[in-house]
Amino acid sequence: MCGIVAVTGYKKALPLLLNGLEKLEYRGYDSAGIAVINSETKNITCNKTEGKLKNLINNLNDKNIPGTVGIGHTRWATHGKPEVKNAHPHVDSTGTIAVVQNGIIENFQDLKNKLEKEDIIFKSDTDTEVIPHLIQRELNTLSKLKLENNGSTLLVAVRNVISDLEGSYALAVLWSGAPTSLVVARKQAPLIIGLGEGEFICASDTPAIANFTNIILPMEDEEIALLTPLGIEIYDSNNERQYRNPVSLKVSEQIIDKMNFKHFMLKEIYDQPETAKNWLENYLIKNSENGRYQINYPFDTDFFEEIERVDIIACGTSKHAAMVGSFLLEQFSGIPTNVYFASEFRYSPPPLLPNTLTIGVTQSGETADTIAAMDMEIKRRSSIDDKKFKPNLIAITNRKESSIGRQVSKIIDICAGIEVGVAATKTFFAQLLSFYGLAINFAQVKGTKSSNEIDQLISELINLPPLLEALIDKHNESSKKLAHDFFNIKDVIFLGRGINYPIALEGALKLKEISYIHAAGYPAGEMKHGPIALLDKKVPVISIASPGEVFDKVISNAQEAKARDSYLIGIAPECNGTEIFDCLMQIPSSNEWVTPLLNIIPLQLLSYHIAAHRGLDVDQPRNLAKSVTVE
Ligand code: G6P
Repeated sequence: MCGIVAVTGYKKALPLLLNGLEKLEYRGYDSAGIAVINSETKNITCNKTEGKLKNLINNLNDKNIPGTVGIGHTRWATHGKPEVKNAHPHVDSTGTIAVVQNGIIENFQDLKNKLEKEDIIFKSDTDTEVIPHLIQRELNTLSKLKLENNGSTLLVAVRNVISDLEGSYALAVLWSGAPTSLVVARKQAPLIIGLGEGEFICASDTPAIANFTNIILPMEDEEIALLTPLGIEIYDSNNERQYRNPVSLKVSEQIIDKMNFKHFMLKEIYDQPETAKNWLENYLIKNSENGRYQINYPFDTDFFEEIERVDIIACGTSKHAAMVGSFLLEQFSGIPTNVYFASEFRYSPPPLLPNTLTIGVTQSGETADTIAAMDMEIKRRSSIDDKKFKPNLIAITNRKESSIGRQVSKIIDICAGIEVGVAATKTFFAQLLSFYGLAINFAQVKGTKSSNEIDQLISELINLPPLLEALIDKHNESSKKLAHDFFNIKDVIFLGRGINYPIALEGALKLKEISYIHAAGYPAGEMKHGPIALLDKKVPVISIASPGEVFDKVISNAQEAKARDSYLIGIAPECNGTEIFDCLMQIPSSNEWVTPLLNIIPLQLLSYHIAAHRGLDVDQPRNLAKSVTVE
C-alpha cells in the first residue's frame, strides 16, 4: 500500500528518494511522485506519473533537480483513480506546500466542503489534498502572530491541522518557508526515521532506509517530528518532547535481493527450507535434563494454564495460517479456538468470554483491520474490572518493530526475513510453524498429549528442511509443465479437508492473487452442496488428499469430480487410492499433523508458474498491496 519517503540533509535528494521508492515498490502501488525543494530559490519541483516507478524515472529523464530536501510517494488508489492528478505529492494553491500521505482521511469531504466555501480549488479527487490547503490556511493564521518562517512554525501548523483529521495517516510535509525542514506525523500508519550523519530519512518501511543508514527510530503512534539537517525533534500527542535511543536495523530487515531468481516470489518459495531452519534454531531448545526438545518462545507460557479458549484475528493469507492454527489448537491441544476476519471482528466482535487468549496474526504487523481489531479487544477487555477478562495477547508477525509489535508485548517473531512478493509464501510457512509451536506449548501445559506424541510432532518438524528442499526442486519442474497446460483456464476448484481445508483456501488465494484466474477452495465434503454444479471438463479440480482420518472421504469427493469430467490434480503421497488422479503432485509420506507444511509447496509453485507463464507481474499483482494500511 502507499509508501512514503522523505529526506533532508546535504546530499542531493532526488536519487535518495527514487532509491527509497524503489525499495517500497513491493508494498503495491499504481502511481508515484516526488517533490524536491531548492533551498536557494525556495522553489518546489513536483513530478508525478501513473503506473510503475520506472515511468516516473523516465519522466524525470535525468533532469537536474537541485535540492537536498524532498518527499516521495508510491500511491495505491483509494479516493480517486490512479491518475496523475491524484498521485502524490499534493500541493496547496500557492505551490509552497507539498504533502505525501499514506492512510485515509475519513472526514475529508467535510473539510473539503469548508475549504471550497473559502474559494479553494481542488485539483484532485483525493482525500489527501485537503491537507496542504489546511496547512496553508494554518500558516496564514500563524503569520498574523508574527511567528518566524521556520521548521518550528511548520510543526505547529501541521500539528494544528492533524488535530482536525479523522482516520489514519502517515504524512510528510515540505514548505518553502522552511526549505531545509520536513515535518512528518503518523497515526495508525507506519513511519520510521533513519538517522544518517547530518541527514535524516523517514519512510514507511525499513528497506527504504537501509541503503542510507542502519540506525533507526520507529515513530510511535500519534507522534509528530521535525527533521532538519541539524537534528530531529519528536513530540507525542500531548506535545511533550520525546527522547529515546535509536535502534539498529537487523540484516534481514535490510536485504532485498532477488539473487538469480526471475521473481521474488520464486526466491521466497525457495527460501522456505531456510525459513524452517531459522525458526527451528530460534524456537527449539533441548532440555539439558531430559534431552527432550521443547518450544522456547520469548515469554513465559505459565499463563497458558488459565487460558480456556483462543480467539485468532487475521486477514488474507494470515487468516489461512490462523485456520490451520485453530485446527491444531483444538485437535492437538484441546483448546476451543475461533478464527475471525479482522475486518468482521472490528464491527461484530463475539461476546466477551473469560480467560481468553487473543492472537493477532499479521506478517507486516501493519494491516489496519488487524491492528484496529486488536486495539478494540485490548480496550474492551481492559475496561472490565475482573481479571478473568483481562487482555491476554500474542502477536505472530514478521515485523516485530511494527505497529502490532508495539501494541502487544508477547511477540512470536516468525523471523522469515523481508518478503517482497505481494503473495505471501515464506511468511505463511513461518506463521504455520509458529502455530505448531503454540499447539505444542499448550498441549504440554494442559497435558492433553503424551510426551511421545509431542516428541513425534517435534521430530517431524525437525525433519522438515531437507524434505522441503527436495519437494521444491521436484515440483518446480512438474508445476512448470502443468502450468504450460493450464495457463489459459478460467476456473479452478481446490478441495481439502480437516487440517488441509485452509491449505485448499490458500492454494486458491495464491492462484487468484497472481494469475487473475478465478479459483475457490472448499472443504471437500461441501462440494456436493453447490460447487459441483460448476464442474465440467473445463474446470480442473485440485484435491489435497493426505493419508489420515479423512483420506478415503477426500478420494470419494475427488471421484465425484472425475465423474463430472473434471481434470483431477492430486496433492498426495503415492499410495492406494491416488491412482484416480490424472496428475499426481507427489508429497512425501508424513505424520498427518504436518501435511499442511508440505502440501502448500506444490500449490505455491503451480500458482507461480501459471502467473509467470501468463507473463504477469508476479511480484506486484494488479490492485494488491503487501501491507494494507487502510481499512
Ligand atoms: C494483503 C496481502 C496478503 C496478506 C494480507 C494480510 O492483502 O496482499 O498477502 O495476506 O494483506 O497481511 P498481513 O500483513 O496482515 O499478514
